[in-house]
Amino acid sequence: MVKTIQKGLLATTAFVGLSAALGASAETLDDVMARRGLTQQDLVAAAKTYTPTGGRDEFIVFSSGGQSGQIMVYGVPSMRILKYVSVFTPEPWQGYGFDEESKAILEAGKVDGRELHWGDTHHPAITETNGDLDGEYLFINDKSAPRVGVISLHDFETQQIVVNPILQSEHGGTFVTPNSEYVIEAAQYPGVLGRGYAPLSQFNEKFRGAVTYWKFDREAGRIDPSKSFSLELPPYSQDLSDAGKLVSDGWSFTNSFCAERYVGGIESGRPPFEAGCSQNDTDYLHIINWRKAEEVYKAGKVTMINDHPVITMETAIAEGLVHLVAEPKSPHGVDVSPDGKFIVVGGKLDTQASVYSFEKIQKAIEEKKFSGVDPYGIPVIAMEDALHTQVPLGLGPLHNQFDSKPCVVYTSLYVDSQVAKWDYCEGKVLDKISIHYNIGHLVAMEGESVNPAGKYLISLNKLAIDRFNPVGPLHPQNHQLIDISGDKMELLYDMPVPLGEPHYATAIAAEKLKPLVRYKYGTNSRTGERHEGAVRPGQERIERDGTNVKVYMTAIRSHFTPEIVEVNEGDTVEFIITNSERAEDETHGFSVSTYDVNLSLEPGKTATAKIVADKPGAFSFYCTEFCSALHLEMTGYLMVKPK
Ligand code: CUA
Repeated sequence: MVKTIQKGLLATTAFVGLSAALGASAETLDDVMARRGLTQQDLVAAAKTYTPTGGRDEFIVFSSGGQSGQIMVYGVPSMRILKYVSVFTPEPWQGYGFDEESKAILEAGKVDGRELHWGDTHHPAITETNGDLDGEYLFINDKSAPRVGVISLHDFETQQIVVNPILQSEHGGTFVTPNSEYVIEAAQYPGVLGRGYAPLSQFNEKFRGAVTYWKFDREAGRIDPSKSFSLELPPYSQDLSDAGKLVSDGWSFTNSFCAERYVGGIESGRPPFEAGCSQNDTDYLHIINWRKAEEVYKAGKVTMINDHPVITMETAIAEGLVHLVAEPKSPHGVDVSPDGKFIVVGGKLDTQASVYSFEKIQKAIEEKKFSGVDPYGIPVIAMEDALHTQVPLGLGPLHNQFDSKPCVVYTSLYVDSQVAKWDYCEGKVLDKISIHYNIGHLVAMEGESVNPAGKYLISLNKLAIDRFNPVGPLHPQNHQLIDISGDKMELLYDMPVPLGEPHYATAIAAEKLKPLVRYKYGTNSRTGERHEGAVRPGQERIERDGTNVKVYMTAIRSHFTPEIVEVNEGDTVEFIITNSERAEDETHGFSVSTYDVNLSLEPGKTATAKIVADKPGAFSFYCTEFCSALHLEMTGYLMVKPK
């Protein structure tokens, strides 16, 4: 018996008492509810998220993939996963790290000559125009090695990895300024700038933090390291950051969680890191005038470390670029309100969220009204001279996201496993909802922009425990979709995330994304330019230069040209293949039996599989994408003749 629920009834009929048969041989809605143990509330939630076949989502989320070194892309409200974008980690399906073009990207991500096969992605950020998300490019940081990846949202491929020349650990990235002038990357655990050595006994003198302002060249779609600079900061364990907007445009804000400058050492009888960094009641919010810092950098008032310009603390203090304000101990998120007037800080070990007024901060700076200086001479603004309000929210406030409704902000409460909805203008709690379990970041639709879209909030939970079918001791993570369109928050859906630990995510209206359907013929997708080895059908050829063999090949349903490639044992063979399809979604793959290569050739793309034919034999190559009824026949031979 075919069981169907007639489409349309969910939308047009109140669920109460619905028991009529929905079709000649169909179950009734009541039958289905009884059989699956669903409540009417479940049905409403289902109707809010269910997307019929062929349906599209209103928002697209880019979520960090944590230790996978990838980014996960999914739709809201359906919570359907659409893609993984590999950034710091090879990913064979997309050929990332297996074709020569993408290997060059990963090669640029080597740190001090060390090849890394993973990354710890944390905070994605979409390019902005006048503070609005514009959907052109995406950035993400690697906390483990101080790196930033640049992804083009024209094809959802990683285009660039830059390595920070001075940091050894970072967490406060990536955050963009309102016109994507700079991508902000702040240090986390202090180190010797330039990744040098100094004994821990000289921690206070030699160890430092810093904020790097990576210049983004919008036209090139790349970060330009030659126009980027950093600002030296005290070794306070800098944390998350945010850029000012509108009235606070030109400024950036970076948290820190260890103003104690504590260095661990349980064996010496001292408390462990976590206790040592929580001894004092307050830490520092760093307030940086990046626009002025840019002028100082352009005026050449910098020290070069590893060929990278750094504004020293001494210069920063003399030029008035940096100020501190005390904030409740061990804070985490710092988030600037859509109007740019307020800076909301999560307390982590404080039950309150603190709302700072940019106007008050500016007034204190202008009037030089400081409570003193820190051990490095940076002026400190008294908390009472900068605070707008403090609001008790619950245990473990971490991160904040803004609603489309004025003054409404959502804050994750890690310890309480709740989200608090509150009014940061009036300083009062409006609603709370329990989540499952232990929320870290949260993301509201376009919630970090000057025009938040509201409607949905996603809770990025650190633990799933009993939410899904058990799959062994390592559980998936859990993203919970929450409807925020009404006065009360409503939990709609749980999505297991089996990729890595997602930290932050960012969400954009789907209509703002304009991805390609096909590449311009013969494109090297990693440079965006025409591939020098691209050929048209009829131009295919094999060229030999000593022991280097180049095979200029095309792929189209359902054959490669040429199909037979003869080489000698010991030759280096490059298959430079252009997919000459124009039809949507006609991707071909390419692999050579027993070799570590796989290409993903989307329509119009040219990519290179390079191998050393080190063993004589007859090796089949074949298309790894099921592209047509004759997919199995899309094959050929690499004949390696013995010496
Ligand atoms: Cu081309 Cu399968």
